Amino acid sequence: MRYKAPKGTQDLIFDRAGAWLEFVARANEVFSAYGYEPIQTPIFESTELFTRSVGETSDVASKELFSVRSMGAMQAMREGATLKGDQVLSLRPEGTAGVVRAIAEHVLVPQGAAPAKLWYAGPMFRAERPQKGRYREFRQVGVECLGATEPIADAEMIIMCMRFFAALGIPAEQMTLLINSMGDESCRPAYTQAVRDYEAEHADELCDECKRRIDANPLRSFDCKNETCKRVMDDAPRFSDYLCESCSDRFEQVKSCLDAAGIPYVEDSRLVRGFDYYTGTVFEVQVTAGLGTQTAIGGGGHYDKLMGEISGKDLPGLGFAVGFERILLVLEELGIELAPESRPFVYVALADAALAEDAFAIVQALRDAGIAAQMDMQGRSLKSQFKVAGKTRAAYVLVIGPDELASGTCTARNMNTHEETPVSLDTIAEDMARLL
Ligand code: HAM
Repeated sequence: MRYKAPKGTQDLIFDRAGAWLEFVARANEVFSAYGYEPIQTPIFESTELFTRSVGETSDVASKELFSVRSMGAMQAMREGATLKGDQVLSLRPEGTAGVVRAIAEHVLVPQGAAPAKLWYAGPMFRAERPQKGRYREFRQVGVECLGATEPIADAEMIIMCMRFFAALGIPAEQMTLLINSMGDESCRPAYTQAVRDYEAEHADELCDECKRRIDANPLRSFDCKNETCKRVMDDAPRFSDYLCESCSDRFEQVKSCLDAAGIPYVEDSRLVRGFDYYTGTVFEVQVTAGLGTQTAIGGGGHYDKLMGEISGKDLPGLGFAVGFERILLVLEELGIELAPESRPFVYVALADAALAEDAFAIVQALRDAGIAAQMDMQGRSLKSQFKVAGKTRAAYVLVIGPDELASGTCTARNMNTHEETPVSLDTIAEDMARLL
């Protein structure tokens, strides 16, 4: 085979494609109940939007962006032209930056307006080393709320995320909700410096990458998968000891809302998440079933400065995203199916290929009445048409032959019970609607 799906990508075929549609449908059901509306933003945006948003020293910005160029731009570059800033484009590695950009561009939260509450679904791209549960193209649903200021909004976000997992059928006991506060600009610098000093003291135990990042972004080492780094970081200073009064109070209020809602959580002071835009509450939901080393099925948090970074005007935001492929792995492991309700359909079988036009008219009449219908288009024998109808799980088969056309009646065979019911060709749509 000459062409294959690129490394780290996968085709979603049949049930998996259906599962994606159902994943999005359940997201819509849950998020719309909280007042969220859908948004679709471009798959590619200016590279700078992403690097500024997620942080230049984050793995995603420094190593994992897929850059996009038109052939024309590549040609121009070969001829010595340099691209303008807005022509340097990358595939989106996550959804938050694009949504915040769209909210700013369309002024969706004018002064004094209610928060913008938006949800999205689609593919994201990160040039990671592919492994089970970690792909270069993967799908997410996510939500962003811009303009809410109270800690209760953080708690609502977490509760909505857990509700979405419940709507997907993941049992609560399979999940661990981790929460932390990343502080704000008044307490984060002191904490970051404390971690930097600690790492400098233990530099010879850290991997090369963590060593390199001590100055620019010491908190990233909390995410390092290297066993020795993990051990070193276990004893690193804890954010909870450095939070200022307002961050600490806010975090206490979020926790008390979660307690009141009966949502169990584990405080994890090492949870820093992979992007630099977070401030205050962050959370992640982890599952062990089916995932190997990639245990996070969703995560998010609060970000106070991202809108300011993008538009120059601060507006607090918060949100989360859930990865579809990881959810599929978990559901498969737990034996839970994520399938759209299948629509019953009628298969019109031809006793004689010369009657294809008559059968076609019947199929059309059924479809005009909103009934799903199919027919053979390969001149197969009646026997193999029945086989196809069985395999594709037709609810009924109508056999059309010269006798049926002459008498104006045919039989509808129920493919489950094998019961046969005569139906009139004149009222075929009404009769079939009754049977279905
Ligand atoms: P994230 O934690 O990078 O957050 O991604 C959210 C989820 O996407 C992960 O928990 C995981 O399920 C899935 N995911 C991430 N990378 C991959 C990958 N390479 N392969 C498969 N699945 C993956 C964000 O993306 C933030 N934008 C969430 C957010 C929204 N924060 C605030 N608002």
